[in-house]
Amino acid sequence: MVMRTGVIGIDRVAAVVGFANSHLLAVLEFQAANRRQALFFNRTTECVLMVTPVDGIRAVHNAFRQDIQRIDAAALDSARGKEGLAATIERFRFLNEVLVWHAEGEEIAIFPALENVAPLVAEAYVKDHRGLDSAFDELSNSYSAQDPLRTARATAAFRFHLTLHLYKEDTHLYRIFNERISLPEQGKAMGTMAGKIPQERFPDVVGWMFPLIGHEDRENMTRIWQMVMPAPAFAGVKENIKKAIGSDWAELTRRIPTL
Ligand SMILES: [Fe+2]
Repeated sequence: MVMRTGVIGIDRVAAVVGFANSHLLAVLEFQAANRRQALFFNRTTECVLMVTPVDGIRAVHNAFRQDIQRIDAAALDSARGKEGLAATIERFRFLNEVLVWHAEGEEIAIFPALENVAPLVAEAYVKDHRGLDSAFDELSNSYSAQDPLRTARATAAFRFHLTLHLYKEDTHLYRIFNERISLPEQGKAMGTMAGKIPQERFPDVVGWMFPLIGHEDRENMTRIWQMVMPAPAFAGVKENIKKAIGSDWAELTRRIPTL
């Protein structure tokens, strides 16, 4: 492979050959524009991925942000007397289901890996997760009590806490994770984390997530799954994505011609 380092200003190159997942032959890590980046190669030495696992985390976080914002806006409108918003507000149930899988995945895979390289950092984030559990309980109870004002206060509290938590994770916790943990280890942690999603709920997760995120996040997420999933499983996920994004499928295949 020829790399014209002058063009993108690479500071440091480190190749990692061999990967936990058999689809991958090599990971070429490099530092560019003050950011750790990587190229992934498959067994035919075709460059298949130019994202890091943390790009996938960011995509999920963006879906959470977008969903809770819509839910909170609908709850406020509903408290002001607007009708027909139940379906939007009730999205909080599935959002929380995904959030719990995500938080459990972080707690069993990401946080222990981080503990080795940045002791005591993750502890604060576990406390955040328990706070999110309480915020969900308050929201669920308020909604069940058919109290629109209390529901709107609960969605506002949930939105504020969730958004701040995700901001801290993106700019602090995952920054440390990305800087101090090797890519193969990152990939392994992400694989364990993905395992927290029950297999039969995967289509629902795709159907929830993809309409909530932009083209770049969709591309990153799809490329990561395409790489880490066995081909038959990915074929199913591909159909789920196609169904979830409708006419935007054309843009995704333009970005990923191998789809
Ligand atoms: Fe988290």
